[in-house]
Amino acid sequence: MRAMDFDHLLSARTLATTPSGIRRVSELKATLKDPIDLSLGQPSEPVPEAVKQAAIEAIRADKNGYTITRGIPELQRRIRRDLHEHHGWPLDEDAYGVLVVAGTSAALVLAALATLNAGDTCVIQDPWFVLYPPLAAMCGAEAALCDTYPDFRMTAARVAPLLTPRTKFVLCCSPSNPSGVTLSQQEVYDLADLCRERRTLMISDEIYDRFAFPEGAALKPSDAGFGRAPSPATVRPGREPWSELLLIRGFGKTYGCTGWRMGFVAGPNRLLAEMTKLNQYNFVCAPSMAQWGCLAALDTSIDGIISTYARRRDMVVAALRDVCELPPPTGAFYAFPRVPERLGLTASEFCRKAYERSVLIVPGGVFSRRDTHFRLSYAAPDATLERGLAAIADLMRGA
Ligand SMILES: Cc1ncc(COP(=O)(O)O)c(C=O)c1O
Repeated sequence: MRAMDFDHLLSARTLATTPSGIRRVSELKATLKDPIDLSLGQPSEPVPEAVKQAAIEAIRADKNGYTITRGIPELQRRIRRDLHEHHGWPLDEDAYGVLVVAGTSAALVLAALATLNAGDTCVIQDPWFVLYPPLAAMCGAEAALCDTYPDFRMTAARVAPLLTPRTKFVLCCSPSNPSGVTLSQQEVYDLADLCRERRTLMISDEIYDRFAFPEGAALKPSDAGFGRAPSPATVRPGREPWSELLLIRGFGKTYGCTGWRMGFVAGPNRLLAEMTKLNQYNFVCAPSMAQWGCLAALDTSIDGIISTYARRRDMVVAALRDVCELPPPTGAFYAFPRVPERLGLTASEFCRKAYERSVLIVPGGVFSRRDTHFRLSYAAPDATLERGLAAIADLMRGA
């Protein structure tokens, strides 16, 4: 029997979307004998024991059904306490909304669905996180690309010329995937000020908020800026960030539980109510046992995990600093080195040479209009990272 032809049934939306380039690279892994995988944003550290236990106990205690769409009240309250303690948000539950979501991806999709009409625009950084352009395309909107080369800072000065009356939001990602660059407190405040002046929404994707390692080697948990990235959510005189900012945070990267699909979004009541309504019709609720696990997570210290990543960041800088242009990696667990111009190679060509040496890295063209840099993830065991860095440095030296 001939297979049915589906082309006439498919939407322009799906046909315009290409598969994630990161997945393509990781699929190559299956073809390599002894792969050195620096391609994925999957933390190498296991989920902390107390977090695993809390999820297991929830399953055993039959907490396996739907939860209310907003998330279990215990987690809601714990998130509010965190926002109060770290950013000065009010304890009054009427002041702002919180929605626990099935991964930060769900938060981004709900935010786009709640705000974008066909013909609207939103501003995203170039290089972008792979989900950002399809977010706009899914809603028939357009993503205006903010060119952040060569320092990868999405500053207010770079965003301002892109704003129009149809700009619904500016999506800021700091610490950034793919560049690993973290904006300063002043830079994120400036962006928030610009959005307010121009009556557009600032969305702050802070999935890597805890992966903050200011410049300098051998950081300790007591060092300024360790493990907490500057956020526009932090209260300052005369401003109420909870009533003008959409804050998105995740649990997956922080606690190594990306497969649990957990995140949350907090911000203006009206917007949160609309996103919660939409959530009732698609994601419904975040996984129940994972909500209990993440409740325990918020009481678990991750200083050890962050120290491990800070040390790996130092390994990356030490290995590549002298062989290429390397925007200082200060957050997330990515570096975005430039392929040395004297090699005369695009990033895709360079990455193919790396694959020949079994090293998996992602060419910049997957995240950008340019194909001059590549993303290296240091969410990999030390030994893997060490081997990968040695091979990349050799390639850069032309060896
Ligand atoms: C910047 C950024 N935002 C959102 C996500 C999606 O994360 P989640 O797994 O929580 O949906 C990722 C995942 O890599 C990311 O890097």
